[in-house]
Amino acid sequence: MKKNRDSWSSRLGIIMAVAGSAIGLGNFLRFPAKVAMNGGGAFMVPYFISLLLLGVPLVWVEWTLGRYGGGFGHGTAPGIFHSIWQKNRFIKYFGVIGIFGPLVIFSYYLFIESWTLAYSVFSFLGKYQLITDQQGMKAFLSGYQGLTQNQYFSSIMPAYTFFLVTFIANIVIIYHGIKKGIEKFCRIAMPLLFFFSVILFVRVLTLGTPDPLKPDWNIVNGLGFVWNPDFSSLLNAKVWLEAAGQIFFTLSVGIGVILTYASYLSKADDVVLSGTTAISTNTVAEVILGGTIILPAAFVFFGPNDTQSVANSGIFNLGFVTMPLIINQLPFAQIFGFAWFFLLFLAGITSSVSLAQPAVAFLEDEFNISRKKAVGIFAIVAFILCQPAIFFLKNGVVDELDFWGGTFFLVLFATVEVILFSWVFGMNKAWDEIHQGADMRIPRIYRFIIKYITPAFLFIILGVWLFQEWLPLIMMKNVAASDQLYILLTRAGLLFLLCVLAGLVHFAWKKRKIPQRS
Ligand code: PFF
Repeated sequence: MKKNRDSWSSRLGIIMAVAGSAIGLGNFLRFPAKVAMNGGGAFMVPYFISLLLLGVPLVWVEWTLGRYGGGFGHGTAPGIFHSIWQKNRFIKYFGVIGIFGPLVIFSYYLFIESWTLAYSVFSFLGKYQLITDQQGMKAFLSGYQGLTQNQYFSSIMPAYTFFLVTFIANIVIIYHGIKKGIEKFCRIAMPLLFFFSVILFVRVLTLGTPDPLKPDWNIVNGLGFVWNPDFSSLLNAKVWLEAAGQIFFTLSVGIGVILTYASYLSKADDVVLSGTTAISTNTVAEVILGGTIILPAAFVFFGPNDTQSVANSGIFNLGFVTMPLIINQLPFAQIFGFAWFFLLFLAGITSSVSLAQPAVAFLEDEFNISRKKAVGIFAIVAFILCQPAIFFLKNGVVDELDFWGGTFFLVLFATVEVILFSWVFGMNKAWDEIHQGADMRIPRIYRFIIKYITPAFLFIILGVWLFQEWLPLIMMKNVAASDQLYILLTRAGLLFLLCVLAGLVHFAWKKRKIPQRS
């Protein structure tokens, strides 16, 4: 018998929750770093093309597939893929990525999220206020992360404590379920997040020129750094890969999270307008807010070359080193510092709860256990999975997890998903399914894009990537000799997790017949 699944209480609620998942550390930290690493405006052309040809179609596909699967009582990819292609015995195993990917991202995302909570407290208390140079601020960060012992921190204990607080906060939210947990929380957190980011946005736009000897380092040129397009980047394969990867990551698409959120919709609920609203909100938060806060401010204080080299020296340096240094030079530094890091924390937690939900939904839907029990099991497993990112950060484990969970599997999963949708399900049926209950029609050109362009684009990305990077990656060419064992163990751990999840799918399907749509 099909049990009653949880549901969203309102349309605004699900839009807030999906936008909450999309708007995260990716918008405010990963995006500016990628823009700076790829030479500023050079990134924006492939970025917008990827948004229109990959991001937007995949969001519609995932919302539709999720709602469709929810009708069969399935909230995760194994069940949803199986409902679409009942004749194929293997497709459900491919769906395992839709639980695995979010779990992997969760396992490192949470630790970084906990730094933002810690730094918002440190800002408020003025703990780093006297540090005035890059070196000092980097030392503060690495001391906090437990990478070195210095005058600021003598152990990883403070970081671990903030991790525990963040972890428990996430568990409490998902424990309360979709409507009373995630939706309720996002309804408060999202407006607050916009409030803090608009304050910072306005503050950055009104920055003067700090150094009279360098009048070119001003806010207008800072904005130009991000926005002056450079069409020569269209010839660079790496910029394309980075742009497509960022689009997937920022929209939370291609990994199963939106499938799960959309599975709590009912058949009559619109997906086109809601999905489009969530995309637009995320894009505004990324390019307008995320793109205007760190980079133009860094440009004004440090100039184009230093901004680029800070970004190249590590994805977190712009956010946790450059930004606090800039804020320290402003009046009311403690308030602005708090606003910056607390905004990051809200962005992070509304995303991490979405990463937790697929695993919980899988246990509830496929093993018929209560939410409380499912959250309990998730908490134990996720807690263990989070430990390597904390203790082996210095050995490159986070980058490794981000590569597999946050880049490779995203592109792979998205490719399979869009093919299943337009070729196996069939474009005519798919088009009707998308428009069930829709308040807006999708331009017809997207029939063609979803069927041919998006899959072709994804194949090209995967192909170029395989050709250029596969061998050096497998051989760990770019990994320091001392870290190779850690990277190997991380890969073995990921493989083990994939096998366990595949085993669970096997077991679940064996145990009970799949309920038919009533
Ligand atoms: N979209 C989030 C961000 O930009 O930070 C991260 C994320 C959440 C990625 C959920 C993937 C996901 F499924």
